[in-house]
Amino acid sequence: MKFIVTKSYEEMSRKGADLIGAQVLVKPNCLLGLATGSTPIGLYAELVRRNQEGSLDFSKVRSVNLDEYCGLSPESDQSYHYFMNYHLFSKVNIPFENTRVPNGLAEDLAQEGLAYDAYIAQQGGIDLQLLGIGHNGHIGFNEPDDVFTAATHCVDLTESTITANARLFASIDEVPTKAITMGMRSIMAAKKILLVANGLGKQEIVKQAFFGPVTPKCPASLLQLHPDVTVITDFDVE
Ligand code: PGA
Repeated sequence: MKFIVTKSYEEMSRKGADLIGAQVLVKPNCLLGLATGSTPIGLYAELVRRNQEGSLDFSKVRSVNLDEYCGLSPESDQSYHYFMNYHLFSKVNIPFENTRVPNGLAEDLAQEGLAYDAYIAQQGGIDLQLLGIGHNGHIGFNEPDDVFTAATHCVDLTESTITANARLFASIDEVPTKAITMGMRSIMAAKKILLVANGLGKQEIVKQAFFGPVTPKCPASLLQLHPDVTVITDFDVE
């Protein structure tokens, strides 16, 4: 586990972009696992800047996203499809057909989960997975539970996640209550993991996840067992 403590959101975003840029440089056709949420927006803006100035080429990069709300179409501006198009895909030279986000409109979500994991395996596995962390320790939408769920699956979102995400919707009643998310095995199988967290509100959960017990009550704690994790924060973790 490597911790990089930065002084600001901007520095966290630049350092995160450095790691993703290095991954793309050493393997131009790498499979990136991507995340949504407020945290990686600055990192994506930095990748866009580097791509547009010509120092970072996405023409061979492939990507899979962690999760998507159930019941929102890709065109809905609250969907994670839309988020990725807006913040990254439409602004860099990644071929659109190389990108994949779970289909939250699939009639058979269990089948969509199986197909998603099969796609990742068929693509050779994720080279670098980018993660944020929820205030409750979730990664992707793997919510605190009695057990870890291995495969990509449909979840009921917890009250705390619904409340946290309500800021992005007109009202809390519009926040979907279900999502489809890569599971813990899908995430842990990534060759490298980069977790970014900013703001003192995340300090306690980051400490708990990386220095507390490994437990499904804090899904991110499983990352303690991964051999190649980098955590970048803008707050002290000791
Ligand atoms: P945030 O979400 O970046 O919007 O805080 C992180 C997460 O819930 O994984």
